Amino acid sequence: MLKFSPLKMAALLAAVCIFGSTLPASAAESAAAAEPAAAAKAAAEGSAYSRKGADTCINCHEDEALMHVFRTPHGAPNDPRSPFGKGQLQCEACHGPGDAHARGKGKNRPDMIDFGKGSTTPVAKQNSMCLACHQKDASHWNVGAHARNDVGCADCHDSHAKQDPMKAALTQQDTCGTCHQAQTAGQHLPYRHPTAEGKMACTSCHAPHGSPNPAMLTKTNSVETCTTCHSDLRGPFAWEHQPVTEDCATCHAPHGSINPSMLKARGPFQCQQCHQASGHPSLAYGSNNLPGRGTASVYVVAGNCLNCHSAVHGSNHPSGAKLMR
Ligand code: HEC
Ligand code: HEC
Ligand code: HEC
Ligand code: HEC
Ligand code: HEC
Ligand code: HEC
Ligand code: HEC
Ligand code: HEC
Ligand code: HEC
Ligand code: HEC
Repeated sequence: MLKFSPLKMAALLAAVCIFGSTLPASAAESAAAAEPAAAAKAAAEGSAYSRKGADTCINCHEDEALMHVFRTPHGAPNDPRSPFGKGQLQCEACHGPGDAHARGKGKNRPDMIDFGKGSTTPVAKQNSMCLACHQKDASHWNVGAHARNDVGCADCHDSHAKQDPMKAALTQQDTCGTCHQAQTAGQHLPYRHPTAEGKMACTSCHAPHGSPNPAMLTKTNSVETCTTCHSDLRGPFAWEHQPVTEDCATCHAPHGSINPSMLKARGPFQCQQCHQASGHPSLAYGSNNLPGRGTASVYVVAGNCLNCHSAVHGSNHPSGAKLMR
């Protein structure tokens, strides 16, 4: 009696479900039909596509973890655009032509295009495999800091995972955190956006595929980005506060802070970074009221300019000129 390991069985079943009776005659043929130039070039380079597509690969690559690819949108047989759609190249749509690899033995087995950490394939080559189908989804890719710094699509995406880590806020944040620890660590600070709860993600403010905006923000600048949610602060105000119209991040630490309201500094110090020499004293104790010889300056009593200038983001009140109401 023939014996199948459960794993092999699952792989076979997967293959049967996917291809059914309409198994493409050979992936090499479909390649030729779909992309004659590419197929000819591949043949010239001695790197032809395997004859039976995924069936060839699964003979050797049967790990259960790899087979999750069939449960993702990439495995959809009824989507003609997907790697497993009719006439497509299946595994080789991403990993490149694999005939020589499948036939090779030991040291004579040429490498496939591989992705992510530990891959020897140049990042630009890796990304070009994905961009062949996803140019539109990553249209700003080339202007972004990630492309400039050789970040690969597969540094963030995992095509063999049951669920792509970018799909949920928490797994997205963890992945970004592998490279951006400082920003992700902000979720442990007392004043922060609700990212740790999964209610917001890095992509609430950033465009991971690149954008022409500073810090790859989703909108032209921080003010535009922040006021997509904090629309009450968008203005314009009759009495504007100049830094607020320029950059919210002048005063706020968007990734979290130890100070209330996610301010970069506490109390008067936040304001005194710019208003050191303002018309009224900004020091609690001056020459006239040294400690023990008088009361602290009313302007900084209780440590906060906001006691009087409460409309710090701007005011529409007729007498709000000094941002006091
Ligand atoms: C949508 C593109 C895509 C398709 C289709 C695809 N893969 Fe992959 N494959 C990847 C990516 C991306 C990785 C890297 C995964 C990671 O980041 O851990 C990978 C990793 C692998 C690895 C692991 C290599 C290593 O270094 O350990 C093997 C083996 C593999 N794929 C085989 C296959 C086989 C066999 C198929 C068809 C059944 C297939 N792949 C279909 C994108 C794809
Ligand atoms: C006859 C067995 C066999 C077949 C068929 C086969 N591979 Fe491999 N593959 C291997 C071996 C062995 C390795 C090396 C594994 C290692 O070094 O850990 C490998 C490695 C890989 C890697 C990792 C990158 C590399 O080259 O080291 C990928 C990706 C891959 N194969 C994809 C495929 C795809 C896609 C197919 C189908 C076109 C395929 N393989 C067919 C045996 C096979
Ligand atoms: C042969 C074309 C093709 C290739 C090559 C390809 N994809 Fe896709 N991809 C698709 C299609 C089709 C979809 C489904 C799109 C949809 O439903 O609108 C998809 C969906 C996705 C999604 C969304 C997944 C989800 O769960 O919703 C991601 C992320 C993605 N691809 C990343 C990649 C990456 C990374 C690579 C390279 C390793 C790659 N793709 C290679 C065709 C391709
Ligand atoms: C820095 C991490 C990161 C990198 C690198 C990255 N992506 Fe994405 N990608 C994401 C995130 C996050 C989403 C989910 C966006 C959402 O749902 O809000 C996404 C979504 C997608 C989707 C689903 C469609 C969409 O736009 O929502 C596709 C397709 C995709 N990426 C392809 C690519 C390709 C191709 C590359 C490489 C050129 C790439 N990605 C590089 C983070 C990344
Ligand atoms: C594999 C490492 C890696 C991963 C994963 C990664 N990044 Fe990056 N990112 C970089 C590098 C490298 C740079 C450029 C150098 C820098 O600014 O630190 C960068 C830059 C940035 C910048 C600054 C852009 C600029 O123009 O100043 C932002 C914002 C960013 N990444 C957000 C993200 C987000 C959001 C994620 C997750 C969806 C993510 N990154 C995942 C490596 C990574
Ligand atoms: C509420 C909006 C918002 C969220 C959410 C957010 N960022 Fe940012 N990020 C910004 C702004 C605004 C800047 C501009 C830098 C500045 O001026 O402080 C920035 C800058 C960056 C930079 C450039 C370096 C720096 O600190 O200036 C990186 C990298 C970055 N963010 C990564 C991330 C990552 C990773 C996440 C998710 C954990 C994330 N950001 C979540 C708004 C946000
Ligand atoms: C995707 C929507 C969204 C975006 C974009 C956004 N925020 Fe928020 N913000 C929130 C939510 C939700 C809260 C939490 C409100 C709560 O807990 O009641 C919050 C809270 C805050 C708080 C703290 C409020 C308090 O009561 O302590 C500050 C300050 C803040 N955001 C500033 C910013 C800045 C600056 C930016 C741009 C860099 C920004 N936000 C972008 C949704 C957003
Ligand atoms: C000049 C410094 C400064 C700038 C610039 C600034 N803020 Fe604030 N923000 C503050 C201070 C101070 C508080 C605390 C107010 C309080 O405690 O009454 C605050 C509080 C907040 C809060 C929570 C309370 C509230 O009023 O809803 C949010 C949200 C907020 N700011 C968003 C923003 C956004 C969005 C921008 C950019 C459009 C911005 N801030 C620019 C200083 C600033
Ligand atoms: C990044 C620099 C900066 C920071 C930080 C800053 N301001 Fe201002 N502030 C300005 C500028 C610039 C003006 C406009 C000055 C002018 O028109 O002469 C201004 C104007 C004002 C005015 C109105 C002055 C007038 O004559 O109309 C008040 C009141 C004020 N700021 C209070 C504050 C308070 C309170 C804080 C702390 C929460 C603060 N500022 C933080 C730069 C700053
Ligand atoms: C006790 C209330 C009070 C406190 C506290 C206070 N201010 Fe004022 N501030 C005023 C009044 C009243 C004016 C208007 C003075 C005038 O019109 O001559 C003013 C005016 C200003 C102006 C406009 C320029 C000027 O000198 O006329 C700035 C800037 C300013 N304050 C900044 C600050 C800063 C920064 C702090 C914290 C260090 C602060 N204020 C604390 C009451 C206060």
